[in-house]
Amino acid sequence: MEDYQNFLKEILISKDDLQERIAELGEEISRDYAGKELLLVSILRGGVFFTVDLMKKISIPHLVEFMAISSYGAGVRESTGDVRVMLDLQINIRDKHVLLVEDIIDSGNTLSSVIERLKARHPKSIEVCTLLDKADRREVEVPLKYRGFNIEDKFVFGYGLDLDEYFRGLPFIGVVDLEKYKPVD
Ligand code: IMP
Ligand code: MG
Repeated sequence: MEDYQNFLKEILISKDDLQERIAELGEEISRDYAGKELLLVSILRGGVFFTVDLMKKISIPHLVEFMAISSYGAGVRESTGDVRVMLDLQINIRDKHVLLVEDIIDSGNTLSSVIERLKARHPKSIEVCTLLDKADRREVEVPLKYRGFNIEDKFVFGYGLDLDEYFRGLPFIGVVDLEKYKPVD
């Protein structure tokens, strides 16, 4: 894989702006869930980077679990509601207030399907916290309790989001210059 500088169009959200917003979200969540059994469910792999930083800003006791999902039935850059659970939660969520933590919501297909599956296990509540929201792209309604940033329909990478699985570790959100980037088959 070549250096990302070759196809980075612009930095959309800087490292400092990300961290500042995450601190605000952490405070909000700490207030809203005070006295409740909070379980963060982080969606692998993209949601993990956000989850870790968010946890550092949540001042109340909470648990974290991970789920890996894979989407089928559409192109690489599109998802359908046809998801498969590749890694499931390790605990019973009946007595928990579940907060799903995602990197980005695009069509909403992936997350709405995850929500339906988890609801069947009767958590006390289930809500969503996403770092990024491409609201204009939504095909299925997803209840969003917390949102870091609403962004335009551009393909972004970094801070959990991948470009053909690379660059998740970058501390900022960058926009891909699609004229300069050659996708990996
Ligand atoms: P949805 O089911 O269409 O909402 O797809 C959400 C998933 O698509 C996210 O969890 C990401 O993995 C991926 N995705 C959507 N937009 C982008 C993007 O701009 N960059 C990287 N991944 C994206
Ligand atoms: Mg994802």
